Amino acid sequence: MTGKKEMSYKDKIDLLKLPHHVAIIMDGNGRWAKGKGKLRVFGHTNGVVSVRDVVEGGVDLGIKYLTLYTFSSENWNRPKLEVMAIMELMVSTIHKEIKNFMDKNVRLNAIGDLDMLPKKCFDELNNAIETTAGNTGLVLTLALSYSSRREIVRAAKNIAMKVQSGELKVDDINEEVFESNLYTGNIPDPELLIRTSGEYRISNYLLWQIAYAELYFTSKLWPDFRKEDLYEAILDFQKRERRFGKTSEQVN
Ligand code: FPP
Repeated sequence: MTGKKEMSYKDKIDLLKLPHHVAIIMDGNGRWAKGKGKLRVFGHTNGVVSVRDVVEGGVDLGIKYLTLYTFSSENWNRPKLEVMAIMELMVSTIHKEIKNFMDKNVRLNAIGDLDMLPKKCFDELNNAIETTAGNTGLVLTLALSYSSRREIVRAAKNIAMKVQSGELKVDDINEEVFESNLYTGNIPDPELLIRTSGEYRISNYLLWQIAYAELYFTSKLWPDFRKEDLYEAILDFQKRERRFGKTSEQVN
């Protein structure tokens, strides 16, 4: 024993070059449970442990925005029992976590077709959003009943209605206007998108917003993902050269 503490990935992160916004596709809960001979729901329950740890990691590091793909519009097509179990889990988790959010100055936010959620879930979510509204630390956004294509169509419809009512001119439609009509209108684009479970897909997640995001894929299944894995991904992000279409010479 040298008495020396193992260096964490966190210690190697340049705090001046943090991504402002990290988005995560939490995948692999079902496979994790199956690998242990358990029901899929067991994977989701353990996925919540990862959520808690990663939120804590984001807060400790000083990340401003964390957006989690919690339930897609397509997920409604899963077996009814699994959908019900996820909704129940959401209700109990959000209820339990409010105190933690207040202690850690986390503001809860949600994007997606929230009207589709069961009333109990919708109410619990809204209560947590209202309770944490004054918090100024990490903004934790849950994408729930979320489909990026639907979000884009919804924005197009909003804009069309504004044009129809004379509130907006066609010539005034630009990227900023379009963006402000998305659910994420008041959130900066993610600079880093993480997907767990070894799948290399975007799955209808934040398609507009990830135009310039760095993509990070890990084979770890979501219930095994911890803050240390988040730090590893951020470190990897910091090693990349972000050029935004320019040449290497121009950005250095
Ligand atoms: C993806 O794994 C996971 C989901 C669709 C559900 C994610 C939900 C949680 C982790 C609960 C979170 C709760 C809160 C309050 C944030 P999968 O089921 O698609 O796994 P598979 O690809 O192995 O089948």
